[in-house]
Amino acid sequence: MKVLVIQGPNLNLLGKREEEVYGGVTLEEINSELAEVGKQLGVEVRSFQSNHEGEIVDEIQRAPAEDYNAIIINPAAYTHTSIAIRDALLAVKLPYYEVHISNIFAREEFRHRSLISDGASGIVTGFGTVGYMLALKGVSRHLDIIKKEGGK
Ligand code: DQA
Repeated sequence: MKVLVIQGPNLNLLGKREEEVYGGVTLEEINSELAEVGKQLGVEVRSFQSNHEGEIVDEIQRAPAEDYNAIIINPAAYTHTSIAIRDALLAVKLPYYEVHISNIFAREEFRHRSLISDGASGIVTGFGTVGYMLALKGVSRHLDIIKKEGGK
């Protein structure tokens, strides 16, 4: 199984950025933990971060040809603004799972609306950076169940 993890703008600054909201763990640390958890689960994980909307769209568009089974995405601020990322996710028809480090519903009102949630197979929000590991474990189990039982 192959899972693509996409991180949106400013998440390259994790560990230094608003630590009271996002914690002290860096993106590099998240990526190596994802690779480790992936290894335990038998899931190949690629982690991609960009500050640019079009690059994120390009990465999503490439995913089916690269045989990914699912996408885990934290579009960061683009969650609330990007119809282009929403359209790309819907176009490629791969199951995707939305992650937010903070609880977006407990923050400013403009963060309450996500343009991708309605098409997501699952959402993790507010667990801090551990949310990525929860999502990866969840995706692996979820896809296994779907494959075995044809269920949801
Ligand atoms: C975020 C929440 C967004 O509102 C914000 O713009 C981010 C990070 C989160 O992970 O909590 O950059 O997606």
